[in-house]
Amino acid sequence: ASRSGAEVPATAVARTDAAPAGRLTILYGSQTGNARRAAEALLAKVQAAGLPARLVRADTYPTRELAGERLLYVVISTQGEGDPPDDAIGFVEFLTGRRAPKLPELKFAVLGLGDTSYADFCGIARRIDARLAELGAHRVADIGLADLDIDTVAAPWGEAALAQAREQLRVATPAGAAHLATVTPLRPATSWSHERPFPAEVLASQTLSGREFKGTGFRRYGAVDKDVRHIELSLDGSGLAYEPGDALGIRHRNPEPLVAAVLEATKLDGDGIATIDGDSLPLAEWLATHRELTRLSRPLLAALAERADADELRALLEPGNAGFGALLADHQLVDVLRRWPANWEPDALLAALRPQAQRLYSIASSRKRVGEEAHLTVDIVGYQAHGHVHIGAASGFLAALEEGGQVPVYVEPNERFRVPADGARDILMVGPGTGVAPFRGFVQERAETGAGGRNWLFFGAQHFNTGFLYQVEWQEALRRGELHRLDLAFSRDQADKLYVQHRLRERGREVYDWLQSGAHLYVCGAIAMGKDVHAALLDIVAAHNGGDTEAAAGYLSALQQEGRYARDVY
Ligand code: 2AM
Repeated sequence: ASRSGAEVPATAVARTDAAPAGRLTILYGSQTGNARRAAEALLAKVQAAGLPARLVRADTYPTRELAGERLLYVVISTQGEGDPPDDAIGFVEFLTGRRAPKLPELKFAVLGLGDTSYADFCGIARRIDARLAELGAHRVADIGLADLDIDTVAAPWGEAALAQAREQLRVATPAGAAHLATVTPLRPATSWSHERPFPAEVLASQTLSGREFKGTGFRRYGAVDKDVRHIELSLDGSGLAYEPGDALGIRHRNPEPLVAAVLEATKLDGDGIATIDGDSLPLAEWLATHRELTRLSRPLLAALAERADADELRALLEPGNAGFGALLADHQLVDVLRRWPANWEPDALLAALRPQAQRLYSIASSRKRVGEEAHLTVDIVGYQAHGHVHIGAASGFLAALEEGGQVPVYVEPNERFRVPADGARDILMVGPGTGVAPFRGFVQERAETGAGGRNWLFFGAQHFNTGFLYQVEWQEALRRGELHRLDLAFSRDQADKLYVQHRLRERGREVYDWLQSGAHLYVCGAIAMGKDVHAALLDIVAAHNGGDTEAAAGYLSALQQEGRYARDVY
């Protein structure tokens, strides 16, 4: 994992003998890599200006150094409703806790990444900004609050931050010391990345749910029932390395039916040439490769409300309107374009739509078992609503690929989600639905390395018949002694919902014993599931160590700090 991004290689960091006072620390917390890339871009700029700086991922930051910092920039994304990304939880707890030091000497600035569609937009960035000021630190640039079109805010914020770094470090750095800063590029420019993805060939694509969407044209994407796909990609010749727990970033092309539906709803000509920042492409191509055509955003809806002169939509956009969340949840872009017809010019449409974002899929394999391949477990989004078939942008793209087709990919490392370095440790894995993906990689990895510890998997799905992903593989792994325990929760095969957390509670005593004897615990899947599982774990720990909920919370947070309780939720 040379492309880790946890802490930049020593060569990229300014001479360490430069006094801390003369150095900028850029601290980042990132869930999907966007905040990390923004922080890296800032570091590159600061270093190109000859200023000493270092880049640190929040969970590797030694908090005792905070009191000694003189210039600190925080770049942080938002998870769900205003929460920090997992790698920043510890830092936030420290900063907001009673043990945080007074910081009268510190100068700081904060850049938040978020989504204006959520009520608590950039909530965590705002709280960090306020807390640093409360601790006596001095704000040198206004907080930047970036929506999905990150650069619109991040670029000017970066300029202001750079200007302040020049100013502050010139004052604090002994004369002539600035030139000591090394300006080595961050990473070898040859590796495949978000900006330059590798075209991976599809080696296999099979349904795991026994229902494959077949057909041609629109029907080929005409998913109306659950299809979970196992997709094998070749990384041959790419030099791309990953560890189980890492994700594959996919730069998809929006399926043709989605592009056609948007053009039809807006009555625009896909062949018309549109120019953005000097780049000219047919409108259909802009839509296929540069814009989000499924997920909605507040700016798009605001633009639509004006163009369509729609009071109903304006009302929904009022802050605090409960209908807004429902609108976002139940509608894709084409649904609102159809519901509120308006006159669109190509440029206005392109400006209102969200820039296309990468999708991350947890890798479901170990290179030690599969060689130069990466396997994915993909939930194909497809459903009928508002009188039309709806398909997922990236999952629809992946579903339609035939063997031999190509997918642009890169590796997004997740160092917080790795099998224990010590193979003798037991592991507990909770992964309902496609959350099971990384655990297929974990079990392969532990088998291939001869890890002696036990592997216990909690898996759940709606139905045994269609949802038991990798059933045969798990059964074989059990038989071969590569998987030691398997607990299943099929939620809709009986009258009452049965979830993985119910199984955890049933096995509470043993779960607690495993944790007490040093087991590592992993949870992967939907955010709501992660929260409910956490609540179950709190109860389990409380029940077995004296009934004290506060102590149980401390127990789990200590596990997290030790890297023995890791979550990958989305
Ligand atoms: P459901 O769809 O029947 O509610 C994989 O998606 C499995 O996770 C399904 O069985 C799904 O059940 C279940 N699931 C949904 N919400 C959950 C939650 N909050 N906690 C745990 N499992 C959940």
